[in-house]
Amino acid sequence: LLLSAAVLMPASAFAANETVGFSQIGSESGWRAAETSVTKADAKERGITLKFADAQQKQENQIKAIRGFIAQGVDAILLAPVVATGWDEVLGEAKDADIPVVLMDRKVDAPDDLYLTAVTSDTVHEGEVAGDWLKKAEDGKPCNVVELQGTTGASVTIDRKKGFADAIADAPNIKIIRSQTGDFTRSQGKIVMESFLKAENGGKDICALYAHNDDMALGAIQAIKEAGLKPGEDIKIVSVDSVPDMHLAIAHGQSNATVELTPDMAGPAFTALEAYWKDGTMPPKWIQTKSTLYTQDSDNMAAYERKKDLGY
Ligand code: AHR
Repeated sequence: LLLSAAVLMPASAFAANETVGFSQIGSESGWRAAETSVTKADAKERGITLKFADAQQKQENQIKAIRGFIAQGVDAILLAPVVATGWDEVLGEAKDADIPVVLMDRKVDAPDDLYLTAVTSDTVHEGEVAGDWLKKAEDGKPCNVVELQGTTGASVTIDRKKGFADAIADAPNIKIIRSQTGDFTRSQGKIVMESFLKAENGGKDICALYAHNDDMALGAIQAIKEAGLKPGEDIKIVSVDSVPDMHLAIAHGQSNATVELTPDMAGPAFTALEAYWKDGTMPPKWIQTKSTLYTQDSDNMAAYERKKDLGY
């Protein structure tokens, strides 16, 4: 009987009885929604029971959810941390309960023995790629840049800001003239861009927008159009994520470039957990996902179609 059960088991069947708690930030962006659906689908495929908690952008909700997962005795916790600081205590509680924690898409400022691994892109590099693109596009011409930052205190916001600033440090022609948070949302991106346009001669003094994610850039595109300017031409736009709507905007000449961030953080996370559960294999502390630049020279319609199939 035992033998026939073993023969019938699928490849990752040792994980079939595992339960994973996922503390997700919320649904602030198209990218975030895709990460959630990819994670749910992947858990289902692997026979993992996923307990999902939407924190509605609040760290206190994430801490509460993690404590709930610990109390339920889950086999692992996935955490997409809204901000970088303030995690030591609750991650220590998970460690004391022998529950491995995998960080998803953002990092924490905490000792690295408090989590098993972090699945993220190189988020400083994303900013550098965006800055390098603009430097090349402007080729020494004076260019005033406005920046839409992500959520204040998030590791990705800090890193994407730094990467871009580093990249343009040797380009005195490129100046960041305004920088404000748009909280990674389309609606805030539009509102903050409206204020930038108003403050900068109706937008005539703005040469480019750098947005820390596509959703804010898409909101800003709307604001630029409503101000009577042409996004992608009068104001160049570079952002991060590569969501389907951004590929459409680039294909239609309304935006210029985006740095891709895969929403599939769960695949590497579950693979690492399965190896850990099986025989205690320790993954590297950082599992890096790729960052690819898309411009108007890329096949954005093909990217759009591919992304649509990914659960956006
Ligand atoms: O942490 C990843 C970032 O969070 C994505 O770039 C952004 O869209 C999301 O809200």
